[in-house]
Amino acid sequence: MEIVIVPDAPAQGDLAAGAIADLVGRKPDALIGVATGSTPLPVYEALQRRREQGLNLDRARICQLDEYVGLPAGHPESYREVVRREVLDRLGISDDRFMGPDGSAADVVKACADYERTLAAAGGVDLQLLGIGTDGHIGFNEPISSFGSRTRVKTLTKQTRVDNARFFAGLDEVPQHVLTQGIGTIMEARHLILLATGESKAEAVALAVEGPLAAVVPASVLQLHPHATVILDEAAAGQLKLADYYRSTYATKPAWQGI
Ligand code: F6R
Repeated sequence: MEIVIVPDAPAQGDLAAGAIADLVGRKPDALIGVATGSTPLPVYEALQRRREQGLNLDRARICQLDEYVGLPAGHPESYREVVRREVLDRLGISDDRFMGPDGSAADVVKACADYERTLAAAGGVDLQLLGIGTDGHIGFNEPISSFGSRTRVKTLTKQTRVDNARFFAGLDEVPQHVLTQGIGTIMEARHLILLATGESKAEAVALAVEGPLAAVVPASVLQLHPHATVILDEAAAGQLKLADYYRSTYATKPAWQGI
C-alpha cells in the first residue's frame, strides 16, 4: 500500500486525475470505477479541466460502485443519477459506456448477479476510486462484511445513514438498503485509489492503514491489494503513526513511477 499525504482536496483530485489520465493514455477504453459522495468530486473536477486541455476520454468506460435500493429510477440522489451528473456529463461520456447495478429493480438479488456478470464481461475494473466511511466502509460494505463478498444487498449502519442524510430531506429519507460491489469484487480491480479528506476520517484511515486486517474495518482489506494507493489530506492523515515515513517515501519517489 502506498500512502500519499497532500495539502488539500484539490491536490488529491489532481493526483488521482493524473493517474486516470495516464491509464487512459495506455489503455483508451479503460474501465474506471467511480465512487459517489463528497470526497471524489475534486477528481472529477480535475478530470474535467484536463479534458478541456485535451485529455481524450472518448473511449473510457465508467462503472458504479454501489447504489441505494428502492429509490425510483431517476431520483436525483440515486447514485446512477449522481454519476450521470458528476462524472458522465462533466466528462462527455455517453450512457452506453456506463454500467451500474439497478437499485430500482423488482429483483435486486438478480440485479446484483447481473452486475457481477457485466463487470466480468467488460474485462474487469482497471482503476477503482474509493472513499471511506467514518465507520471504515468501502463501497457500502459496512463493518464485518466478508472480505470475500461479491455484489449484494447490504443494510446501512445508522452512522452511515446519518452521514449521508445531508443529501436528503432528512434521516428518514435515507434508504436502509443498498447494493454494493462486494469486497471481493472491489479487490479484483487492478488499481485501487482510496481518498479521504478531513478530520472526521482520520480514525477510520488510521485503523485501515496501520491497524490489523479486520472485517470490522472493511477498508483494512486494502493491505492485501498489490496496487493500492491511499491519498489523504493532512487532516485525514492526522492519526497516522508513520506519517513522516510516508511523506519522505513519496518525496523521494522517482517521478516515472507514478502512483
Ligand atoms: C460512495 C461510497 C461510499 C463513500 C463513503 C464516503 O459511492 O461508496 O463508500 O465513498 O461513504 O463518503 P463521502 O465521500 O461523502 O465522505
